[in-house]
Parts: sequence; structure tokens; C-alpha cells
Amino acid sequence: RVRRLPLSRGFNMTPACWNLLLLLPVAAQVINGGQQHWPVPYRRFDRRPPVDSYCEAVYPFCPTGDRDGRVPYMRDRDVISVYRLQTPVWEFKYGDLLGKHIMHDAVGFSSAESGANYTMEWYELFQLGNCTFPHVRPDVHAPFWCNQGAACFFQGIDDLHWSQNGTLEKIGTLTGNQFNDMAQWVQDDNTTGIYYETWTVRSEPGPNATVWFESYDCSQFVHRAFRKLTELGAKLSSRSPTNYTKIYLYSGEPAFLGNDSAIFGQPALKNVAEDIRKFYHAFRPHQSLVDFALSLLEAYEKVVLDKSFYLYYNFEYWHLPMKPPYVRITYEEVPLP
Ligand SMILES: *[C@@H]1O[C@H](CO)[C@@H](O)[C@H](O)[C@H]1NC(C)=O
Ligand SMILES: *[C@@H]1O[C@H](CO)[C@@H](O)[C@H](O)[C@H]1NC(C)=O
Ligand SMILES: *[C@@H]1O[C@H](CO)[C@@H](O)[C@H](O)[C@H]1NC(C)=O
Ligand SMILES: *[C@@H]1O[C@H](CO)[C@@H](O)[C@H](O)[C@H]1NC(C)=O
Ligand SMILES: *[C@@H]1O[C@H](CO)[C@@H](O)[C@H](O)[C@H]1NC(C)=O
Ligand SMILES: *[C@@H]1O[C@H](CO)[C@@H](O)[C@H](O)[C@H]1NC(C)=O
Ligand SMILES: *[C@@H]1O[C@H](CO)[C@@H](O)[C@H](O)[C@H]1NC(C)=O
Repeated sequence: RVRRLPLSRGFNMTPACWNLLLLLPVAAQVINGGQQHWPVPYRRFDRRPPVDSYCEAVYPFCPTGDRDGRVPYMRDRDVISVYRLQTPVWEFKYGDLLGKHIMHDAVGFSSAESGANYTMEWYELFQLGNCTFPHVRPDVHAPFWCNQGAACFFQGIDDLHWSQNGTLEKIGTLTGNQFNDMAQWVQDDNTTGIYYETWTVRSEPGPNATVWFESYDCSQFVHRAFRKLTELGAKLSSRSPTNYTKIYLYSGEPAFLGNDSAIFGQPALKNVAEDIRKFYHAFRPHQSLVDFALSLLEAYEKVVLDKSFYLYYNFEYWHLPMKPPYVRITYEEVPLP
């Protein structure tokens, strides 16, 4: 099968460059046994690498959590309530272009025996903008990503924060053993799933679309946690619709480009490397959510004009031949397992 090559506008290719581009997707095909599987599986790691000191958190990650990410042990005869937690982090003030709101999701627990309660969430170490757009640094050739995400478990549930304009709903109970098993699962998930991915990439908006890439964000963590709890024997149910924010890109079949050293370490791919730098220069990560929203709008305009997007997934670049409706933010139902 011949895969589409990333030959969008703005490329000035030398014959040598052509050859390499022809080879890259072929190499990917061989590695995958001749068949690309969609969606591309999110890559798991053996352990979480240390964070580069260039990355700076505006808000410290998990300030009230245990330093080593320990989760308290529950006695089996305890009854642990499970809560679905959701709160808006941003409401767009730019009409209906991208949709309405971005919600943040978490899970709550409370122990009948001790009365203590806990919040468990998964989010960016260096804020959403840094997970969505890299830093294009003059002294570093490849765009530089501060895109780690991790689980945070801490004591307390801030009722007001979640219930006002959001959701705080009890959806089930666990035994102490089920809770302890879940705690073990969170530690493993947290060690092996290390980076945040904002975008879900699909071939079209309809229900039969091919999903090229899945996001890996706070709501995906909540879905994984709920699936794990169900697998452990918990029964979860909600009286209200369980909707979640999804940030979509729409494209034709993606073409594999390669990792940093493959693209930015080879003179022959200079033009692709420059194009990626140029592409991301427009969307430098910013300090505030307002700037992030403006960057999303900029991204929208850029992909509509160029019909081109460079996705960074599993620390590798893919070229997306974008198509209408390009970018969309939805708030859609994902039923409890
Ligand atoms: C993103 O990363 C830069 C560089 O590390 C940092 O200055 C900034 O505070 C981070 N956060 C946001 C939201 O941009
Ligand atoms: C997950 O990893 C982060 C980053 O190393 C750490 O701060 C956090 O405590 C861990 N969370 C859990 C629940 O293990
Ligand atoms: C969690 O604990 C705090 C402090 O005791 C309490 O104010 C709050 O109502 C509890 N929330 C839930 C959902 O149990
Ligand atoms: C809930 O929404 C109202 C109106 O938009 C706002 O004034 C209030 O601060 C919000 N509450 C929270 C906890 O975000
Ligand atoms: C999706 O696929 C199913 C089964 O092939 C078909 O019945 C249905 O009409 C399709 N829906 C759309 C919107 O194409
Ligand atoms: C980058 O990709 C090349 C193959 O193109 C591979 O040999 C190399 O190990 C990869 N580097 C990293 C850091 O994954
Ligand atoms: C929740 O999701 C359903 C189905 O995806 C949708 O029809 C509904 O409008 C959504 N609710 C809100 C408040 O957006």
C-alpha cells in the first residue's frame, strides 16, 4: 500500500530529500509488519524520565499530594464511595467556532471508616499550552516539548470547586481491597504513561470515522480508572449524562515522519525540519489560558489555509493532511463502563 507523502505547500524539495521521504514511511511499514494499525498505540515507558530544567511550572504539580505518590491503605471491610468530579477550566468567549468549554475531570473517594476523602486526577506538569505546543528555541534545533503529564492523589475533596458549575456525584462504592488494587494500578499507570496528548485525530466527524490517534489527557485517565474499577468488580452508575471535552483534529491518512534525531539530525530533511519549526513557531506556548485559546484559534486559521498539521505523538512527528472541519472542541457523552 502506498501511503500519502507529506508534500503540502511550502516544501522545496531536493531529489535527495524526496528519496528519504519515500523511505521513511516504508521504514515505518516494515517496523509495523507491513501494516499500520490505527489508532497508533500510545507508547508506554519503563519509567518516567527526569524533567528537563528548562520546563517551568507556573503552578507546582500536585502540591498537597504525597511526595512519592503513595496512596493510603484501606481496610477491606471499609466502604469507599466513588465520585465523578468535573469542573470547567475555560469557557470560550469567541462564539461557536470551536465549541463552548473545556472541562477538567477527576475521581473522588471517601472512606466510611475514617471519614477522610481524596481526589485523584491526571494532568499536565507544565500546563496545557506546553503540552499542546512546543518551544521553538533559537539554540535548540528540534522543537522542545514540556509535555509530561502525571497522576496526582491528595487528601480532600473541594466540594465547592467541583459542584459549582460542574459535577460532584457519587457513582458507586468499593471495598477496601478493591481500592487498594486500584491504588497499585494508578502507580503502574503513572510510571508507564508519561506524556500528555491534547489532540484526538480522526478521519471525519461521523460515527464511522477512523481514529488515527487518541488523546491522552485527564478525561482518558478517568475513563481508564473507571474501567479498572469495573474490572475489579465495582458497579458504577450516574443519574446525569457523563459528557467529556474532546479536542479533535480531522485529517486524511497520516504519514510518519520520524523522531527528533531522524528529522532534525539529517541535513537531507532540512526542509521538513524547517517547516516543522515554522509551523510551531506560530503556536508558542503561552502563560495563560486566554493565550492558549487564542493560539487554538490561530492554529485553526493556519490549518485551514495550509491544510497541514505536524502532530507529535510518542515523541515522533507525523504529517496530517488536514480536512474540514479541521479543528473542533466537543462535549460529548462517554457512558460509564
Ligand atoms: C511553559 O513552559 C515555559 C518554559 O519552561 C514556562 O516559562 C512556562 O511557565 C510554562 N507554562 C506555560 C503555561 O506556558
Ligand atoms: C505520578 O508521577 C508524578 C511525577 O513523578 C508524581 O509527582 C506523582 O506523585 C505520581 N502519582 C502517583 C499517584 O503515583
Ligand atoms: C470531603 O471532606 C471535607 C472535609 O471533611 C468535607 O467538607 C467535604 O464535604 C467532603 N466531600 C465529600 C464529597 O465527601
Ligand atoms: C460559576 O459560574 C459563575 C458564573 O459564570 C461564576 O461567577 C463563578 O465564579 C463560578 N464558580 C466557580 C467555583 O468557578
Ligand atoms: C456506519 O456503519 C454502519 C455499519 O457499516 C452503517 O450501517 C451506518 O449507516 C454507517 N453510518 C454512517 C453515518 O455512515
Ligand atoms: C529515532 O529513530 C531512529 C530510527 O529512525 C532510531 O534508530 C532511534 O533509536 C530513535 N531515537 C530515539 C531517541 O528513540
Ligand atoms: C452530552 O453528549 C450528548 C451526546 O454526545 C449530546 O447530545 C449532548 O448535547 C451533550 N450535552 C451537553 C450539555 O453538551
